[in-house]
Amino acid sequence: MCGIVGYTGKNQAINYLLDGLAALEYRGYDSAGVAIISPSRHLHVVKCQGRVEALRQRCDDANLVGSCGIGHTRWATHGAPADRNAHPHTDCSGSIAIVHNGIIENFEELRRSLRAEGHEFKSETDSEVIAHLFGDAWNGPAKGDMVGALRNTVARLEGSWAIAVICSDVPDQIVVTRCGSPLVVASTEDGAYAASDVIPLSSVTDHVVQLEDGDIALLEKDGGITVYDASGGEVTEPKGLDIDWDASMATLGGHSDFMGKEIAEQPEAIERLLKDRLGKHGIEMDELRMTREELSQVDRVYIIGCGTSYNVGLIAKTLIEHWARIFVSVEFASEFNYADVLVTDHTLCLIITQSGETADTLAAARRLKGMGCKIFAITNVLGSSAAREADGTLYVQAGPEVAVASTKAYTAQMVASALVALRLAFANGSMTPCDVEMIYRELRQVPDLIREIFNRSWQDKQAVPIFQDATSALYLGRGTNSTTAYEGALKMKEIAYVHAEAYPAGEMKHGPIALIEPGFPVLAVVPDDHVHDKTVSNIMESIARGAKVVAVATDGDEEVAQLCEQVLWVPKMDEYIVPIVAVVHLQMLARYVAKAKGLDVDKPRNLAKSVTVE
Ligand code: F6R
Repeated sequence: MCGIVGYTGKNQAINYLLDGLAALEYRGYDSAGVAIISPSRHLHVVKCQGRVEALRQRCDDANLVGSCGIGHTRWATHGAPADRNAHPHTDCSGSIAIVHNGIIENFEELRRSLRAEGHEFKSETDSEVIAHLFGDAWNGPAKGDMVGALRNTVARLEGSWAIAVICSDVPDQIVVTRCGSPLVVASTEDGAYAASDVIPLSSVTDHVVQLEDGDIALLEKDGGITVYDASGGEVTEPKGLDIDWDASMATLGGHSDFMGKEIAEQPEAIERLLKDRLGKHGIEMDELRMTREELSQVDRVYIIGCGTSYNVGLIAKTLIEHWARIFVSVEFASEFNYADVLVTDHTLCLIITQSGETADTLAAARRLKGMGCKIFAITNVLGSSAAREADGTLYVQAGPEVAVASTKAYTAQMVASALVALRLAFANGSMTPCDVEMIYRELRQVPDLIREIFNRSWQDKQAVPIFQDATSALYLGRGTNSTTAYEGALKMKEIAYVHAEAYPAGEMKHGPIALIEPGFPVLAVVPDDHVHDKTVSNIMESIARGAKVVAVATDGDEEVAQLCEQVLWVPKMDEYIVPIVAVVHLQMLARYVAKAKGLDVDKPRNLAKSVTVE
């Protein structure tokens, strides 16, 4: 939700700012803007509704020159997507500019009191109060002191923020801080940089400094960065992080869109994750930071996630309950935070989050941590808040996921969950080393099975006409594959704007069947598993009412082939592996439908990839 960048150094700031914003655009793309201090010490702000490309055009026209600046790409929370609400925001003097990611919860009250003091507001955003508060501090108690002025400012804020500020009185400095929203800084020979995450920085450095909540950092033209902690003391050794993603991983590399690229990267991502995991103690997972004895005592697992990551949690539940025989509760983070929680002395909390920054998921984890639970994170983003706050972290190593709709992180997170389930099962004796090894070998087949699904992408293309003009569709599945249906429907909704409703197939007759009329599209996930025949009955019930059924079925299933309009075939495999492989058909189907409708598959409307507001 919103991306911010900053640069001060020897080069023209505009280049890094625009490229950095383009790399962060997945965090929001309602509007974008930059503020740059010119050599004659004037602050220039250029901003507009829409994408970074539109901003680039405006910046070209404005010919912005200057080596110190900040930028922002927005996902609207307070105030409609519009030029006036785009960041950066300025104070009344027009010499101070700020960018903000997060939510200022007490902005109404602050705005009222600032207005009463004579401040004039130009936007409807919560963020603009920051510019005015900073202006007051700069011209008052913290005169001439960027760090002091920012400290003074944040002392009055409630909510979450990552903030960067420039001021034309000190044309070479940027001051930044964070509280609950991500922010990293980097020092190079060319100058000092700031960004919401490592992706924009991977083209300029392989090492960044991670700020802790409450830290304030002063960035200077010679690349110098001084970090002060919340109490005002200088942090002599701020926490560093090596970036092992090279910049090309976040480029299209010959693909027409990131979603297509990321779907294609799934086999390699899973291979990386599984490499060298089988040891003499079953699954090697030092990342859990729990002894075998501690793991053997786990008697309850809470799994927390949102969206696609929640869907991973549903699969994880099945695997942990089936293999490790431990009771699991899967919770939407946003609901969990307001619900009763029942923990035992040995409850483990598993948070699943691609970005590691989802505000609701982090809040839920903090709540469980406060109750004494061990927190284990499955995440993709190195050094993310989830990774830093958890007791142990398993990185899924899928590489940067840029498309808003999650694909490679979903399958990699499912494999990671399977590893955790096997580790628990081995620790508590529910599985023998031999059983674990057998499943691990099945998992090792997944990359090739997914490659085989790619060979069958023509089947997904053929199914496009059935969904392209539909406004509604039902996605059905049973057991673990009800989750495949949920995830397939989520992809179809978010990128192709088809209202795809997923339902456990057996539940359909308790309501949703009323939707079916002749020609209504139904997608049924019906692989060769222990509930196959039951799902076939549900397909028949749909067909009897005129539905056009597209099935995901196992090679050789003549019965399903006879019944359905079309089949997306998957090879024969263990039924617990099917969800990781079958979903790839549904990712490709959603992408083809969206493309056929001429939609932007990487940046669907109203969405942002990293949801850092509750
Ligand atoms: C859907 C999607 C979202 C995310 C959700 C949680 O394709 O990407 O539903 O899964 O916003 O994000 P993370 O996993 O970063 O916590």
